[in-house]
Amino acid sequence: MKVFAALSFFASGELAFAMSNCRCVYGETCWPSSSQFAQLESVLSQPLIYPRPTAAVCYPASNPSGNCSGLAATWTDGNWRSDQPGTMEAPNFETYTFKNGTISACYTNTTLDVPCGQGSVPVVGIDARGPADIQAAVQFAVKHDLRLVVKNTGHDYLGRSAARGAFVVWTHNMKNITYNATFVPQGAPSNETYDALTVEAGVQWHEAYAAINAQGRMMVGGISVGGSVGAAGGWVLGGGHSVLSPTYGLGVDNAIEMSVVLSTGEHLVVNSYQHPDLFWAMRGGGGGTYGILTSVTYRTYPSLPVQTAIFAANATNSAVLQNLFTELLHIHPALSDAGWAGYGGTSNSSLYFLCVKPNGTEAQANETFSPFLSFAQNLTAQGLTSQWYTLGYDSWYELYTLYFSGVGQVGGNIMLGSRLIPRETLDNQSGELSDILFPNGLTWNFVAGGEVSRISPDSAGVNPAWRKAIVHVTFGIDWPLGATSEEIDGLIEGLKAEEKALHDLTPESGAYFNEASLFEEDWQYTFFGTHYPRLKAIKDKYDPYRLFVVAEGVGSEEWDSELNCRTS
Ligand SMILES: Cc1cc2nc3c(=O)[nH]c(=O)nc-3n(C[C@H](O)[C@H](O)[C@H](O)COP(=O)(O)OP(=O)(O)OC[C@H]3O[C@@H](n4cnc5c(N)ncnc54)[C@H](O)[C@@H]3O)c2cc1C
Ligand SMILES: *[C@@H]1O[C@H](CO)[C@@H](O)[C@H](O)[C@H]1NC(C)=O
Ligand SMILES: *[C@@H]1O[C@H](CO)[C@@H](O)[C@H](O)[C@H]1NC(C)=O
Ligand SMILES: *[C@@H]1O[C@H](CO)[C@@H](O)[C@H](O)[C@H]1NC(C)=O
Ligand SMILES: *[C@@H]1O[C@H](CO)[C@@H](O)[C@H](O)[C@H]1NC(C)=O
Ligand SMILES: *[C@@H]1O[C@H](CO)[C@@H](O)[C@H](O)[C@H]1NC(C)=O
Ligand SMILES: *[C@@H]1O[C@H](CO)[C@@H](O)[C@H](O)[C@H]1NC(C)=O
Ligand SMILES: *[C@@H]1O[C@H](CO)[C@@H](O)[C@H](O)[C@H]1NC(C)=O
Ligand SMILES: *[C@@H]1O[C@H](CO)[C@@H](O)[C@H](O)[C@H]1NC(C)=O
Ligand SMILES: *[C@@H]1O[C@H](CO)[C@@H](O)[C@H](O)[C@H]1NC(C)=O
Ligand SMILES: *[C@@H]1O[C@H](CO)[C@@H](O)[C@H](O)[C@H]1NC(C)=O
Ligand SMILES: *[C@@H]1O[C@H](CO)[C@@H](O)[C@H](O)[C@H]1NC(C)=O
Ligand SMILES: *[C@@H]1O[C@H](CO)[C@@H](O)[C@H](O)[C@H]1NC(C)=O
Repeated sequence: MKVFAALSFFASGELAFAMSNCRCVYGETCWPSSSQFAQLESVLSQPLIYPRPTAAVCYPASNPSGNCSGLAATWTDGNWRSDQPGTMEAPNFETYTFKNGTISACYTNTTLDVPCGQGSVPVVGIDARGPADIQAAVQFAVKHDLRLVVKNTGHDYLGRSAARGAFVVWTHNMKNITYNATFVPQGAPSNETYDALTVEAGVQWHEAYAAINAQGRMMVGGISVGGSVGAAGGWVLGGGHSVLSPTYGLGVDNAIEMSVVLSTGEHLVVNSYQHPDLFWAMRGGGGGTYGILTSVTYRTYPSLPVQTAIFAANATNSAVLQNLFTELLHIHPALSDAGWAGYGGTSNSSLYFLCVKPNGTEAQANETFSPFLSFAQNLTAQGLTSQWYTLGYDSWYELYTLYFSGVGQVGGNIMLGSRLIPRETLDNQSGELSDILFPNGLTWNFVAGGEVSRISPDSAGVNPAWRKAIVHVTFGIDWPLGATSEEIDGLIEGLKAEEKALHDLTPESGAYFNEASLFEEDWQYTFFGTHYPRLKAIKDKYDPYRLFVVAEGVGSEEWDSELNCRTS
């Protein structure tokens, strides 16, 4: 009831406030009139935007309204997708499933004969170019009690940057990048300087990497094909992992300062000196929860050469391959101690990994991996074939551009499950772990351990489970366009079963907020561990209007499953 008192207080203030228990969504009589939207538009730097699902250009089928035939060429380009205000990286998050199971969606395959539905794509919003635009939008959303979503790149794996009938703040075009070799945080002593890069909310990792490489330096950031993940949005607000994290920590460990617009309309600069509680929460306490981030300043590091260790194997007998996989899980603590990081994956007939060691050497690669290579060698009699390479690169950026340029990794329907795997589990229970993970295939992100484990768990709001983990494993389900909600629900049951098994094997660990499922058991603990109560208190302090709410985000337990109606 304390919260309702706060709402009444603000309602009696300068902002009129709709006191309904439910948010106003498009189509309801409470929805702002076109003249009210026009008034908002008059104070913005850009016209309002009216996002449409990606495939809307293919309709009407008899006479497509846009470049439908061109869609195939850009469908899996993460940068093209993030340039479209209505496009999500995974098309399923553009769709909406009604309670009766009918799906509102707009499919590229017009022969499915489903009318193009708006689904979960917000109907109207702003193309923000700076904090002032965001302040106007936030005040408008509070005044009309709208369901607000923040969309940066639309990469979110839980669909948090879309919502049916919502008003969207699109941060994608806030592209300023500033390098400063002697950056001083606001309020810090003048001799506390950092070699730093400040990126505005819409900057994407490929842009930040190019900018910092031009200074002969490198930084901790997201890694994906095309580098399209946002450098100052959901990635850092949820934690931010990188193949450089075992050397330099998570994204949140490298953020020195952030700027944020709150639901009250205030624009704050937060760091260790100013609003340190909010700065703590925004380093891992989740995107779309405390306010709208407008920029982040990160530490940077001198560019280093990197050594890679690349391995690939095939086997027709999946038991042989699983044997190798189990061994690989088992040796991860040793790889971590030797300074390695990387990525890998398995199917039932193949296994690969790309491991990376900044400033490492070929001799170190040979030495560290030789027990594993002998283990693989011993399996050749059982039909295993394998390849091993050790390649060195002059800089991290050279490796990044070689392996992660181009298009791919996005554009498919997907839902993920995941788990942060602690060191002890790899040490002592690699067989049990392998039995759960191997059958459905997985990706392992060897992005923890090392520096991530050395940093104090309470120094940032991010899930303390990261500090004990070495590997973040992800697995997923996918389905063709036009699948029914029953078919999708069947796949979800499989995802839930695998998650439950991992939860039971590692009950004290958790999962990564940004790459996980919408079906996490006890999500407060799973995503935030013992930090949850403190994060919730900070959320309540800085978001008195409870404007910012996302699936499985801090405070979302106070809302119904649609996140539109308050339940407490
Ligand atoms: C291909 C691919 C590769 C990935 N690689 C990595 C990786 O290497 N490391 C890693 O840690 N993660 C990775 N991720 C996961 C990534 O961290 C999440 O998808 C993350 O949510 C992306 O944030 P975004 O801002 O780019 O996307 P969005 O979907 O636009 O936003 C994500 C969430 O953050 C909120 N948000 C966005 N901007 C703001 C803002 N300015 N203020 C407040 N809230 C905001 C949104 O409302 C939403 O809830 C990857 C994802 C994909 C699809
Ligand atoms: C349609 O899209 C394709 C692929 O992106 C592009 O090459 C082509 O120029 C576009 N055509 C028009 C008319 O915009
Ligand atoms: C399901 O519900 C939606 C929204 O109320 C409605 O438009 C649709 O016709 C319904 N579908 C069926 C099969 O009843
Ligand atoms: C489109 O849908 C139709 C009807 O289900 C199907 O026969 C066809 O194979 C689909 N086309 C593509 C390209 O998926
Ligand atoms: C970019 O950021 C710098 C430093 O914060 C500032 O001086 C400059 O005005 C900004 N440029 C734009 C276009 O916002
Ligand atoms: C870098 O930061 C310092 C300290 O805040 C400031 O004096 C200087 O002007 C900044 N330089 C640039 C290039 O922005
Ligand atoms: C800054 O100066 C103060 C006072 O001279 C000193 O105590 C402190 O260690 C210095 N800090 C740094 C980071 O150099
Ligand atoms: C391997 O996986 C494929 C598809 O993922 C499946 O069709 C096949 O049955 C699996 N084989 C074994 C031996 O499990
Ligand atoms: C990189 O390795 C060289 C040679 O082993 C060493 O001298 C240097 O200190 C290392 N640099 C870093 C940043 O680790
Ligand atoms: C590493 O091992 C490969 C064989 O796998 C060998 O050719 C190479 O010379 C070794 N390099 C070093 C530096 O030991
Ligand atoms: C490989 O097989 C040999 C002979 O059975 C055995 O002595 C050795 O320990 C095995 N190596 C590994 C790494 O398993
Ligand atoms: C594994 O199989 C794939 C395709 O079947 C092939 O391209 C690759 O070279 C094989 N790799 C090894 C190590 O045998
Ligand atoms: C797991 O192994 C470690 C040594 O790596 C040991 O210290 C620990 O007690 C073991 N934990 C369990 C639960 O067996």
